[in-house]
Amino acid sequence: MKTIFSGIQPSGTLTLGNYLGAMKHFVDLQEENHCYFCVVDEHAITVPQDRLKLRDNIKSLAALYLASGIDPEKSTLFIQSEVSAHTQLGWMLQCVSYIGELERMTQFKDKSSGKEAVSSGLLTYPPLMAADILLYKTDLVPVGEDQKQHLELTRNLAERFNNKYNDIFTLPEVSIPKVGARIMSLQDPTKKMSKSDENQKAYISMLDEPKKIEKKIKSAVTDSEGIVKYDKENKPGISNLLTIYSSCTGETVEELEAKYEGKGYGEFKQGVADAVIQVLSPIQERYHELIDSEELDEVLDNGADRANQAAEKMLRKAKKAMGLGRVKKKK
Ligand code: TYM
Repeated sequence: MKTIFSGIQPSGTLTLGNYLGAMKHFVDLQEENHCYFCVVDEHAITVPQDRLKLRDNIKSLAALYLASGIDPEKSTLFIQSEVSAHTQLGWMLQCVSYIGELERMTQFKDKSSGKEAVSSGLLTYPPLMAADILLYKTDLVPVGEDQKQHLELTRNLAERFNNKYNDIFTLPEVSIPKVGARIMSLQDPTKKMSKSDENQKAYISMLDEPKKIEKKIKSAVTDSEGIVKYDKENKPGISNLLTIYSSCTGETVEELEAKYEGKGYGEFKQGVADAVIQVLSPIQERYHELIDSEELDEVLDNGADRANQAAEKMLRKAKKAMGLGRVKKKK
């Protein structure tokens, strides 16, 4: 049995990319492992947030975790800001990080480029993410491809801390799905599908209604060749739709190519839309039952209790290793 940790930012309604790249795999992992899943609200405030929207997004994300199949009996689901050990260890790991290595993070470069006012939190985001993971003796972190670099840094920070202070942190492995690790924008298939895209047609939100999903997939950018074939270089749009289709149904890309041989893009896109709707509809139904329920608060209260217990233990060890606080005089 392994310990698993992963987090998602409550910075808007999740996209199909978040689901296929991350959340979907959490559900399978909880069967055999000891899992922590987190709503990382302290990461979300590294960019400006409207406080009321943020509040809504936090609960909405928690409800989506449950609706997509996270079982609170098997997994610990909690909100990052309700477990204060995260920011405390985050600070300690900032003091172990170098400015140069943080500036080299592609996510920092992407999010800060061309901006006038960049919060220092955006730069120090990765040590906080490392703290999230290291507090729970995590063995495995399931994420999409864009988080790989942050995971490498987490391992480096853990190793540096272990060598310099005391060997207390487990070095986590990253787990990236074979299919669906990088779902692309429907309007520009060379760009990642992102919930912060200005063009709403570029992404499918997990709460989009079936009609909207169909419309967005029908207007997805493809090519003029008319052949349903996976070729990432030359046919990025069709390849992305094939990936989405395959992740939703479990059929392989080869099986799908054979199924649509000699058929047009119209029919293929209808197939993709049906597959996505079939995955998202039951999640949406359960989401609406949960979103205003007391059950949701109970799950999050229990989750925070469990997470606090585990995290405090590791925080104490880390403080001791670094020499923080004091040792009381024996009476
Ligand atoms: P976030 O909130 O941007 O995304 C949540 C998860 O969704 C994956 N993802 C995608 N996968 C496939 N295709 C896409 N287009 C796509 N877009 C997003 C992400 O890779 C991620 O797994 N830094 C993290 C949150 C975090 C975290 C952690 C994750 C904070 N602490 C500790 C793991 C462990 C982030 O911003 O994810």
